[in-house]
Amino acid sequence: MNAQRRHIRQSPDRLSASKLLSVENLSVAYSGGSISALEGINLDVHEGEIVALLGVNGAGKTTLLRAVSGLLGLHGGAVRSGSISYQRKNLGDESPWGRVRKGISISLEGRRVFTDLSVQDNLKAGGYTQSKSAAAKAYQNVVELFPVLARKRDLAAGLLSGGEQQMLAVGRALMQGPKLLLLDEPSLGLAPLIVNQIRDIIVEINGQGCSVLLIEQNVGTALSIADYAYVLDSRRVEHHGTAQEMLADDTLRDLYLGIAAPAAGRKLNKEAVR
Ligand SMILES: Nc1ncnc2c1ncn2[C@@H]1O[C@H](COP(=O)(O)OP(=O)(O)OP(=O)(O)O)[C@@H](O)[C@H]1O
Ligand SMILES: [Mg+2]
Repeated sequence: MNAQRRHIRQSPDRLSASKLLSVENLSVAYSGGSISALEGINLDVHEGEIVALLGVNGAGKTTLLRAVSGLLGLHGGAVRSGSISYQRKNLGDESPWGRVRKGISISLEGRRVFTDLSVQDNLKAGGYTQSKSAAAKAYQNVVELFPVLARKRDLAAGLLSGGEQQMLAVGRALMQGPKLLLLDEPSLGLAPLIVNQIRDIIVEINGQGCSVLLIEQNVGTALSIADYAYVLDSRRVEHHGTAQEMLADDTLRDLYLGIAAPAAGRKLNKEAVR
């Protein structure tokens, strides 16, 4: 893409909120450094925010979530330079489970549920870092958010529909009681009705005090609930700004977002979904 890189100004509200996650000048490469996947990324998630991570296939979105969750090594990737701080402390070489204990949970792309295990056992596996009472409380919260998981708790997860498996994947991440939830394309391949259901649940989870970093191919859906958004292109952040600012930017909409201008007067933030 040839669009000149622009940084839309940060809203005053955002600057005053406290930073939960701060990615600074992060560069990541795979295969012993031969494949560069991210270069000089700067990105913040503040307490209480839903932040959308947008961008074309191969831009580096999943790589960024792997870096934050500590899973890069499993994929032959490594941080080359820069830092990731959570609650103002550098995560450094903290293990994936150490990050989970600190409150960072990830729901991976492609609904990675344990297909042979029951729905209930999948959820229990998600709560492995929790005390018994905390896991029981989290389970109650998850089945209230996703009643279908309670109804099908004894069914093997592999027998759930695609949308239900996605709900299970998100539910499993919630079993760890996260403060920061990383979601990689939670609505990929799902019917519009289910996409809306998952969107509403993300807003509800956020309303419970959990910040969300959301990768979403459906830009309209993402910006309808996000407070702030970053657009990645070819390993770099090409644009960032509030969802409202992005939607109001004609050039950005045409070049990157592939969506029509919002209807005049339509409220476009998570308050409208709540
Ligand atoms: N395990 C890996 N080993 C080597 N290269 C990888 C690996 N995973 C990803 N890459 C490369 O890193 C770049 C970024 O990939 P990434 O999966 O982060 O993109 P993405 O934005 O999530 O794409 P998509 O929208 O298709 O999911 C791509 O060029 C990809 O080929
Ligand atoms: Mg991806």
